[in-house]
Amino acid sequence: MRIVTNGVFLEAHVGDIAQQPGIAAVVNAANAELMPGGGVAGAIHAAAGPELATVCAPLAPIAPGEAAITPAFDLPNEKIIHCLGPVYGHDRPEAEILESCYRSSLELAEENMLASVATPAISTGAFGYPIDEAAEIACRTVAAMTAGLRHVQVVRFVLYSQKDYDVFARELVRAAAH
Ligand code: APR
Repeated sequence: MRIVTNGVFLEAHVGDIAQQPGIAAVVNAANAELMPGGGVAGAIHAAAGPELATVCAPLAPIAPGEAAITPAFDLPNEKIIHCLGPVYGHDRPEAEILESCYRSSLELAEENMLASVATPAISTGAFGYPIDEAAEIACRTVAAMTAGLRHVQVVRFVLYSQKDYDVFARELVRAAAH
C-alpha cells in the first residue's frame, strides 16, 4: 500500500530488505558492533558482501537510537543506514529510543540527499519489541517528519510477514490522518 503525506510517499510492502532495487538507502536493524548477525543484519551483510564489515568496523560501536551510514556494496542500493534499536524491556525509555532510530535514519538520508529509504520493523525481531507498539511509533515518527523532508520522497516499510504488514498498513493510515 502507498499513501501520500506532505508530498512524501509512505509505503508498506511484504518482502526482503536485502532485495529492494530502485531504493536509494536501506536501513539495517544492526547490532552495536555493526557486524553480521541474524535477521535483517544477517541478510544485509550476506547480500552486501564482506567489504561491508570492513567499513563498518571503524564506525562501531553505536548506541541505541543512533545511526551510521555506509556504502551498500553488492546490494542494489547506494547506501546502508545502520541503526541500533532498543532491546525491549532493557534499553529505556524504549519508545523514545525507537523513535530516535527512525528520526536519525531519515536525518542521515536527508544529509546525504537520498530520495528513497526502505526500512524494516526495527527491534521487532531478536530485540522483542511488540509489533503493534513498534508500528505505531515508527509510522507516527516518519509521518511527523514528512513536512520537513527536502530530499527523501519515498519511505518504504518492508515487512517480513503478512501479519506485520497488516499492522503497519493500519498504523500508516492512522499516522497520516493526524
Ligand atoms: N527483510 C525484512 N525484514 C526482516 C528480514 C529481512 N530479510 N529478516 C527479518 N526481518 C524482520 C523480523 O521479522 C523483524 O520483524 O525484521 C524485524 C527486525 O528483526 P531483527 O533483524 O531480529 O532486528 P532487531 O529486532 O532490531 O534485533 C537486532 O538482531 O540479528 C541481530 O545482530 C542483530 O543484534 C542485532 C539484533
